[in-house]
Amino acid sequence: MQKKLENLKKEILDQLNQAKDSAWLKNVEQKYFSRQGELSQVLKNIKDLSEDARKEAGQLANQMKQEVTERYNEVRNALEGSKNKSETIDPTLPGSDQNRGHLHPLSQTQKQLEDIFTSLGFSILDGPELESEYYNFEAINIPADHPARDMQDTFYVGEKDQPGKMNLVLRTHTSSVQVRSLEKYGAPLKGIIPGRVFRSEATDVRHEHTFLQMEGIIVDKNINFNHLKGLLELVGQKLYGPQTKLRLRPKFYPFVEPGANGEYTCFLCQGKGCKLCKHTGWLEIVGCGMIHPEVLRAGGINPDEYTGFAFGFGLNRLTMLQYGIDDIRLFNSGDLRFLEQF
Ligand code: DAH
Repeated sequence: MQKKLENLKKEILDQLNQAKDSAWLKNVEQKYFSRQGELSQVLKNIKDLSEDARKEAGQLANQMKQEVTERYNEVRNALEGSKNKSETIDPTLPGSDQNRGHLHPLSQTQKQLEDIFTSLGFSILDGPELESEYYNFEAINIPADHPARDMQDTFYVGEKDQPGKMNLVLRTHTSSVQVRSLEKYGAPLKGIIPGRVFRSEATDVRHEHTFLQMEGIIVDKNINFNHLKGLLELVGQKLYGPQTKLRLRPKFYPFVEPGANGEYTCFLCQGKGCKLCKHTGWLEIVGCGMIHPEVLRAGGINPDEYTGFAFGFGLNRLTMLQYGIDDIRLFNSGDLRFLEQF
């Protein structure tokens, strides 16, 4: 028995001394120390010896077990120590690059305008993208049989003119929220309405089925065209710098009277004429006008008591002008080569 224990001890120490990695050590552990391992088996056999021999062998075995366990721990610590050493962190190395996302260019333009208007005391209002035909058209003075309906190619949703059912459309403009907000908040009211709008367009570089607009509305006592002009002038200067001028030219929109097209001096050539402004010196930026009395009435506001103005920005167009983007479809393309440039 003594010989057996001596040999086993030698063998185990030998194996431990050869251990170069933790896989080797694990094998040694399995082979000798596990329940079925050789050391455990030898120790188990001791109980079958005669009493004297058992006593002697027991002592020897305990001593030997202690020795190999100590060596085992030493080897394990050494191996783990070297593993930790290879994992030390060098704080002087430059960090690895984190790919951080950013806001979509349209969201950036929207935020820029929201900042300008909220700093002027406007609230940000909201309305549904799936809208009733009433709020999108009738309520803002575009009756069903009016040719102005033809100005916007509309996605009609569901059955049209079913008794008891509301005719739904994907809103064609954020002007649909004008009457909704007047009904909800009454007058006076001062708000902007950014949001997604839809048209059933055959898409090309300048036409898209889904795009963003931002409506603005002010209703109060004694509001007149001068207020509209003053506000849009200020917004132009905040957008494109203090030298920016505004030009208003009459344009028909059913929900305003008078209606106008607001143009700013081209920010690229300062009005001298260039490719961006098609050599006119002006950029068409905003539709606007004094809110039609019929629209105020639809919102429950007495047009003899209150007046107001409304305006609408195309956020895609603003962004395209700002960055010289030549294809509106890029905004919805999800193409990272495009998006990562902003
Ligand atoms: N809703 C118009 C459009 O989508 C834009 C617009 C024009 C809004 C004039 C207005 C406005 O509030 O006064 O083309």
